Amino acid sequence: MSPYQDIEYVLIDKESIRQKVSALGQRITSDYENEKPLLVCILKGSAVFFADLIRSIDLPLSVEFMTYSNYQGGTRPTHSIGLVQDLNCSIENRHVIIVEDIVDTGHTLNALIKLLELRNPKSVVIAALLNKTSRREVKVPVTYYCFDIPNEFVVGYGMDFGKEELYRNLPDICVLKKEVYANE
Ligand code: IMP
Repeated sequence: MSPYQDIEYVLIDKESIRQKVSALGQRITSDYENEKPLLVCILKGSAVFFADLIRSIDLPLSVEFMTYSNYQGGTRPTHSIGLVQDLNCSIENRHVIIVEDIVDTGHTLNALIKLLELRNPKSVVIAALLNKTSRREVKVPVTYYCFDIPNEFVVGYGMDFGKEELYRNLPDICVLKKEVYANE
């Protein structure tokens, strides 16, 4: 039983993703020439994007992981954003790149940037796979992103839906059939 049976349509296919992520890696490589940035993966949704992005950056870099909770398995944010797992290192005097799957309302990254800026990094920027600009409620500086998408709930390429957190393994970015949301 393939998870694709729950998919209404593919919004962004894997080849388009590959090209954009690779181009973003090249851009970061040239913007951070002679630097050793710290790339922070926001789990779990960014894991697949993160794995591809860091391999397309040709720089000495380090990686860290953070877990933030906000969606609690549904399609709508709760706005009660909580830190579940913090970084394991100091970011003082480091160039930090936060790698996020989607910037939606902006509340998650707004809180995250504020938290990290208190720790005196040299700089903090966001690299997002997807930007839902039309949904923004708080202003956040999204320095890098791969795609601007319409107001659709998407899954795949690391992003999930539901209590069981399914669909992260789909190589494409997809929109689910309406009945899948309705059954949750
Ligand atoms: P924000 O705080 O509203 O910007 O929410 C950002 C977070 O919500 C992302 O990191 C995702 O985890 C989640 N999110 C927002 N839109 C989607 C979606 O379409 N699919 C899956 N997760 C989403």
